[in-house]
Amino acid sequence: MQGQVETEIAGLKLRNPTILASGILGTSADYLMEIAHADAGAVTTKSVGLKPREGYKNPTVIQLECGILNAVGLPNPGIRAFIKEIREMRNLEIPVIVSVYGFSPEEYAEVAMMAVEAGADAVELNLSCPHVKGAGAEMGRSAKSVSLIVEKVKESVDKPVFAKLTPNVADIKEIAVAAASSGVDAITAINTVRAMAIDIETCRPILANKIGGLSGGAIKPIAVRCVYEIYEAVDVPIIGCGGVRTWRDAVEMMLAGASAVQIGSAIAYEGLSVFRRVAEGIKSYLHRKGFRSVKEIVGLAHEE
Ligand SMILES: Cc1cc2nc3c(=O)[nH]c(=O)nc-3n(C[C@H](O)[C@H](O)[C@H](O)COP(=O)(O)O)c2cc1C
Repeated sequence: MQGQVETEIAGLKLRNPTILASGILGTSADYLMEIAHADAGAVTTKSVGLKPREGYKNPTVIQLECGILNAVGLPNPGIRAFIKEIREMRNLEIPVIVSVYGFSPEEYAEVAMMAVEAGADAVELNLSCPHVKGAGAEMGRSAKSVSLIVEKVKESVDKPVFAKLTPNVADIKEIAVAAASSGVDAITAINTVRAMAIDIETCRPILANKIGGLSGGAIKPIAVRCVYEIYEAVDVPIIGCGGVRTWRDAVEMMLAGASAVQIGSAIAYEGLSVFRRVAEGIKSYLHRKGFRSVKEIVGLAHEE
C-alpha cells in the first residue's frame, strides 16, 4: 500500500507527522482536544515551569509582513496547577508532549517528573526560549548546560525526552551532539529567531521586551538548514519546526531530515484545518511519487 502517513518518534505512534508546536493554544486540555479533532498527529503543551509566571507586559505578540514576533515571557500557571490539565489530556487519542523549562538542571527534572507522573507521553525541554533571562536559550546556547539538563532529566523520567534547540547559536550541530550524547530521544529544531521591530512614528521598539523571537514563513529556510545540519551530525530523530504552513513546507523539512513537523504560527493564518491539509497533502505527494511510507522521505535530500 502506498502513501502511509503513520509514523513513529522515539516510540510515540503518530497517525500523521504533524504536531502542534509549543506555546500556541497549548494552555488547556480543551484546546488540545480541539486540535486532536483537527487531525494533528500529536500535541505539545505551552512550556511550563516550577513556579507560576506572569509573562511580560503588552505588546507581547505582533504580526509582521514576514511572520510573527513575540516576547510573551513564558507566562504559565506553574506545574502544580497545570497537572490538572495534563490529567485531562490523558483522554486524548493522540500523544501529549509536555514542554518544560527551568532555571537549573534540577528544576527541569522536577517539572519533567511531575509532568510524566500526571500522564505526559513525552517531555520536550525548552532549551531555546530567546527572551527569558536565566532559562531557555541562556542554557541552550551552552553544550555543557544542555548535556547536564538532558542527563538529569533522562535519569528522572521513564518517558521519551526531546530537546528543543535554539537557532541563535554559532553552531547548532555542537548543541545537538551534546544533547544526543547525553541520551536525548529526539531533537526539535527550531525555536524562534531573535528579532525586533521598531515603530517609526513613536521611534521606539514595539515589543515591551524590545527583543523577541521571530516565527512563521521568514524562518523556514533557517529551520530547514538547522534540520539538515543536525541530521548529518547525530543519529536521533528530528522534529522540524519553523514556518511550516503547507504540505510542501512539511515535505521539505522531512527531506532535510525531520521525522515529523511541528506547526505553530500557521494556525494564525490557516486555522486548525492546517493539520488536516498538511497531512492530506503529504499523503498525495507520497502517492504521486510512489513512496510506500512517509518514513521513506526522511533525510532523502542527503543522498548523493
Ligand atoms: C506566541 C508564541 C509563543 C510561543 N511559546 C513557546 C513556548 O512556550 N515554548 C516553546 O518551546 N516555544 C514557544 N514558541 C515557539 C514555537 O513553538 C515554535 O518553535 C516557533 O514559533 C517556530 O514555529 P512556527 O514558525 O511554526 O510558529 C512560541 C511561539 C509563539 C509565536
